[in-house]
This record gives sequence, structure tokens and C-alpha cells, in this order.
Amino acid sequence: MPDAHASALPEARPAIAALPAYVPGARGAADAAPPVKLSSNESPDAPLPSVVAALERAAGGVNRYPDMGAAEVTARIAREVGRDAAEVVVAAGSVAVLAHILQAYAGPGDEVMFAWRSFEAYPILTRIAGAEPVMVPLTAEARHDLGAMAAAVTSRTRVVMLCSPNNPTGPTLTQAELDSFMASVPSRVLVVLDEAYLEYVRDPQVADGPASLERYPNLMLLRTFSKAYGLAGLRVGYAVGPAALISPVRACVTPFSVSGPAQLAAIASLDARDELEKRAARVVAERGRVLEALRADGWDVPDAQGNFVWLGVGDATAALAAHLGAADPAVLVRPFAGEGVRVTIGAPAENDAFLARLATWDGRP
Ligand SMILES: Cc1ncc(COP(=O)(O)O)c(C=O)c1O
Repeated sequence: MPDAHASALPEARPAIAALPAYVPGARGAADAAPPVKLSSNESPDAPLPSVVAALERAAGGVNRYPDMGAAEVTARIAREVGRDAAEVVVAAGSVAVLAHILQAYAGPGDEVMFAWRSFEAYPILTRIAGAEPVMVPLTAEARHDLGAMAAAVTSRTRVVMLCSPNNPTGPTLTQAELDSFMASVPSRVLVVLDEAYLEYVRDPQVADGPASLERYPNLMLLRTFSKAYGLAGLRVGYAVGPAALISPVRACVTPFSVSGPAQLAAIASLDARDELEKRAARVVAERGRVLEALRADGWDVPDAQGNFVWLGVGDATAALAAHLGAADPAVLVRPFAGEGVRVTIGAPAENDAFLARLATWDGRP
């Protein structure tokens, strides 16, 4: 019996050992007063009664596997976005859809490009796929530097992620910016426009995802039910694009990963779209109120088109997050060490609690 390696243990791929951690928004201690949770860009509203009713109906069937292809919700989304069901793929949150896109399109030796700072899952999912992240710094206005991104495309670039509005900084991409970027990128490069916060956008110049799909055969849209549709806890997201590009993504989807209750809740949410859009409009109104208060107090806040605002306080980030977290009840935000703090727009009283506590901070750089 050879025993020279008897104590050796299985080793993960080096890329996995080197992954940066995904930092979730703080949730607060179980034994503390319920916090003002502005740390995860969630909807402040409880699920709609019609969604709860759909979940109750679905609960009785969870001894059965869900529909593996999520056919009904896929068809419903396709109708909603005016495309064919073959042009839509659904998975367990848009973060899972993106993982599947990268599994399908990028691997060892390939590059995946995105702006930085942007959604923190991008570099993690790129590395898990085995590819190299290429991170192009945002401009001073916290916007994508699309000129620099176009210039950074190489023969190894397989996928470019564009985040509009950009999480965590807030600005959108305009149609003119997207058009000139698409014109300068080879059509063999897959461009994914992440529209997670679409329903909160009010910038009339914003790139129109569905209209752009008509123009660019190498474009895909990434969307979610987690934000304005209020289903973050159920995990449903989707991509829309040309059927030939979507089909390899569908092949990567973990079988049965979107539960039956999640599929039905997503359909019930699409049925209640008007109501959910009204909720999103309330968040937009609150965003305006918070921005106005911040700017009146001298804060330099980038254009905010999602359900969050960005305070780029640099080295004072940890101190600001700690100051807000020490309020009673705690105001939980999402700090990005050394860069800034992202604050989700919550219900009016939550936003007031944030503004009141912020006004007591004397560490502003
Ligand atoms: C830009 C962006 N894309 C995608 C996601 C993923 O959302 P989910 O996996 O809940 O659909 C998020 C979540 O915060 C996000 O900010």
C-alpha cells in the first residue's frame, strides 16, 4: 500500500482559493433592536398580498420538483419584454444567470471586462469561470469610462459587463454611450447590460435595453426580480438576448434551481406590475428627497438612478459606516473599504433616520 501521500487532501483549483469574498450587506445582530437596514439595495416593502397568496398556493406542492425549464415564467417574461421564449433564460437570481453566462462564454485564458468599482460579484464569478477579470476604473463622476474600456479590449476579451445604473455608484449609461461602445467592440465579444435597477431609472438619456437588442447581435440584458419586484429572498433573475446566444447559457443552468414558489411569485409579480411600478416610483421620490437633503448639506453625490446613493468618502469609509451603525437603532449601510459608502433608499422614516444620524458625523473628508 503506498502511503507517501496518505495525509494529502483534495485541493481546490488555485483560482478558487484566491477568490475575493462576496461581502453581503450587514443584517444586524439577532438580539439587537431591528436595524434600519439600508445595506443590500432591497425593496423596503413587504411582498404584495397577491404574491403571498401565490406562495401559499405553491407551498402545498413542494414535495414535487419544480418545472425544470421554468417554462411558464420564461414565457411570461418573454411576453413582457416582447421577445420569444427562446430568447429568455431564467435562473436563481441574476447573479446565477451571470454565473451561467460566464460558464458558457469565458474560461481559462479568456478575459472578462467590467468597470470598477461595480457589482462585486463580477470579479468573483469571472474567477470561478477560470477567466481573468479586466477592471477599468470609473471616471471622476463615478461613471463607466467606455473609451478606456473599448481601448482595453484584446483578442482574449470574451465578455464585457456594463452595469446601468452602476452599483454602487448610481449613474446610468446613455444610449449614445452604448451605441458608440457597441460600434467600437468586435461583434465576437458578448456585451452584457446589467439592468438590475432598471425600474428606478428616470434619466431620459438612458440606454434602452430592448431597443438595443434589435440593433446589436452580441448584446444580452440581465434583469432581476430582487429589486423593484421585491423578491430578493426568492431568487429569480433572467437574461434576454438572441436565441443562439441564450441557448448555451440555458445549458449551464443548475437543474431545478428556481423553486416552484419562486416561479409562481415571479408570475404574480408580473401580474401586479402596475402596483410594483408605483412602489418603485415612491422609492424614486424618496431618492430625490434624500439627494436634495444631502446636496443641501454640501455632499457631492453622483447621479443616483438606482435605489441607492453613493457617498465617496474614501479613507473615512469605515468610520462613517461605524458612526451610522452606532445609532439606536443601528443604521446599516454597505461600506466599500477605502472608497465609500452605499446607502439604500428605504421607507421615509428609515431615510430620515439615516439623514439625522449622518448630520451628527464630524469626520467628513
Ligand atoms: C448590478 C447588480 N446585478 C445583479 C445583482 C444580483 O441580484 P440577484 O441575484 O438578487 O438577482 C445585483 C444585486 O445586488 C446587482 O446590484
